[in-house]
Amino acid sequence: MEQKKFYITTPIYYPSDKLHIGHTYCTVATDAMARYKRLCGYDVCFLTGTDEHGQKIETKAKEAGVTPKEFVDKIVEGPQGVKDLWKLMNISNDRFIRTTDDYHVAAVQKIFKKMYDNGDIYKGAYKGKYCTPCESFWTESQLVDGCCPDCGRPVVDAEEEAYFFRLSKYADKVRDLLENTDFLQPRSRVNEMVKNFIDPGLEDLCVSRTSFTWGVPVDFDPGHVVYVWVDALFNYTTALGFLNDKYDDYDHYWPADYHFVGKEIVRFHSIIWPAMLMSMGMPLPKHVFGHGWLLLDGGKMSKSKGNVVDPYILAEKFGVDALRFFLMRTFPFGSDGNFSNELLIQTINTDLANDLGNLLSRTTAMVGKYFGGQLPEGCKSWGAPESFDTDLISMASALRDAYEAQMEACAPHNALSEVFKVIQRANKYIDETAPWALAKDMEANGKRLAHVLYNLLEATRICGILLTPFMPESMDKLFVQIGAGADIQTWDSAAVWGSLSETAAVTKGENLFPRIDMDKAIAELEAAAEAAKKAALPAIEVEPQLTEKVDFDTFCKSDFRAVKVKACENVKKSEKLLKFTLDDGTGTDRQILSGIAKYYKPEDLVGKTLVAIVNLPPRKMMGQESCGMLISAVHTEKGEEKLHLLMVDDAIPAGAKLC
Ligand code: ME8
Ligand code: MG
Repeated sequence: MEQKKFYITTPIYYPSDKLHIGHTYCTVATDAMARYKRLCGYDVCFLTGTDEHGQKIETKAKEAGVTPKEFVDKIVEGPQGVKDLWKLMNISNDRFIRTTDDYHVAAVQKIFKKMYDNGDIYKGAYKGKYCTPCESFWTESQLVDGCCPDCGRPVVDAEEEAYFFRLSKYADKVRDLLENTDFLQPRSRVNEMVKNFIDPGLEDLCVSRTSFTWGVPVDFDPGHVVYVWVDALFNYTTALGFLNDKYDDYDHYWPADYHFVGKEIVRFHSIIWPAMLMSMGMPLPKHVFGHGWLLLDGGKMSKSKGNVVDPYILAEKFGVDALRFFLMRTFPFGSDGNFSNELLIQTINTDLANDLGNLLSRTTAMVGKYFGGQLPEGCKSWGAPESFDTDLISMASALRDAYEAQMEACAPHNALSEVFKVIQRANKYIDETAPWALAKDMEANGKRLAHVLYNLLEATRICGILLTPFMPESMDKLFVQIGAGADIQTWDSAAVWGSLSETAAVTKGENLFPRIDMDKAIAELEAAAEAAKKAALPAIEVEPQLTEKVDFDTFCKSDFRAVKVKACENVKKSEKLLKFTLDDGTGTDRQILSGIAKYYKPEDLVGKTLVAIVNLPPRKMMGQESCGMLISAVHTEKGEEKLHLLMVDDAIPAGAKLC
């Protein structure tokens, strides 16, 4: 029988900033789905990549003083870049496309020309509202309070000669696709699309730009570049080799089974994308799934709002698998979810440390303690089953199918909750059977004890298989501990109770999911976030110059003098103050107190020539008199104030006037 195919994609990400936990969410979900399908025996192609053209990137590169290509190269390929993050998160993509790749650029030019030749792209003049950060044109009626409906930022009036795609021509077909098929999921998104975009009347879509150059050039009309969304959407086909020679499996994998996308880009994927494919005469993807957003403090994460969560910090602290698991277990895939560190730690402690971790460590420890790590031959069928034996066995035996139904419905959170019902059932079974009590009389109860432990190992194995798409590395370790070889880590064996050998070699290994101290971890995360914020601050900042003018006579009233440090010491009981004894050229020592102890050691300043204003009225600090003020230069570095005493050439004599 021919192997069934499954082609799934993530959106291709804008490499305009470092990716955050929201992007990670989307990619981990796709990865879990791809791994699940591979487990089921499908021939899977999983594509992700980066969407590198457009005005936003052009502008950012200019700000950074590099070419757009240099700019995106760094974010895609560099340290803590996009590829790096997916490697860290153990993402199993089969392919990675960059829209700046030559084969993609050439293919997009052919695609644009083909739609032009068939009359679906025509030249016109564009007048409208444009949101630069989102690269989106909007009609007046789509604006929310005059601003971009996606990001809420102001839009600008834009008018230029442009090519248009006859989106209007496909309105009925797209409506039919949305309303009468299961193309767009979850179903709740259908109404949103129809009501907001199709009912008001689909307008033709502007698909070229002349106001910037960082894009795929329209080869038959220099000056125009292809609208970034046309360029971006076709990535799903060029990455398979459509109209290019780089790859050769377009016929094999297209149409896609699933495009997973965030809800704000459902419009592009469920209206514009099918319409363009219809124009090209290409088969439509089977499904688009619009997932929700991870919110922070009730709002979408975005770099410009400064409320992003760094997956590197979380993965390092809690482990990649725990982070992957948390994202999939906690938030219903189609809805928005509120991210918090507390929730993350709570989920790890409850589900992983308590439920799964305890089941595994208690079971393997008892097999070790009571049977030297190997159960006796025959234990699978020993004893007359009690109701809780039957209960556990029937739940675990039915688990794979219940899980499958949820995964097929793109509800990984529900699939996981099915698995955890069995894990919880197994923990309860430990309490019900009380193996430690059985162990007190091995002669009478040894057989029963072996049977109980076998059931626990077997329930653990089945759960382990179904958790593999979510926590691949940890489940490898789990299988080693319970002695389950590759042949019984399979999808088929997940539905067959009793697959584990009775005499499997069981070892209590490392604790896979250590419990996390909530308060300590939160404090550390906050410190790490603070440090990251500081590191992102501008290196050097100085106070803005005053614009208010001071008249010359007023200025001249300030008497600045060169002074020499004769002595300098810390002021007792003060952490801030240094006391200076200064030669100011008058023959009488001058005393000045200055709050700069954290910047200088007193002994380093003796003998230096400084600058002081000497005609300020004296004032008392910590009970001592200060006559004047030393002049320093101040700036801020990475958010921290820095200070340098103004030191002048030692050739300048004490008392010399500065003017
Ligand atoms: O939109 N929660 O790229 P992108 C959940 N280049 N998902 C989030 C999220 C959050 N807080 N923040 C972002 C683009 N995402 C286009 C795609 S596809 C042909 C072109 C998701 O980098 C977002 O919803 O802005 C989207 O699906 C994906 O990250 C990429 O966003
Ligand atoms: Mg976006």
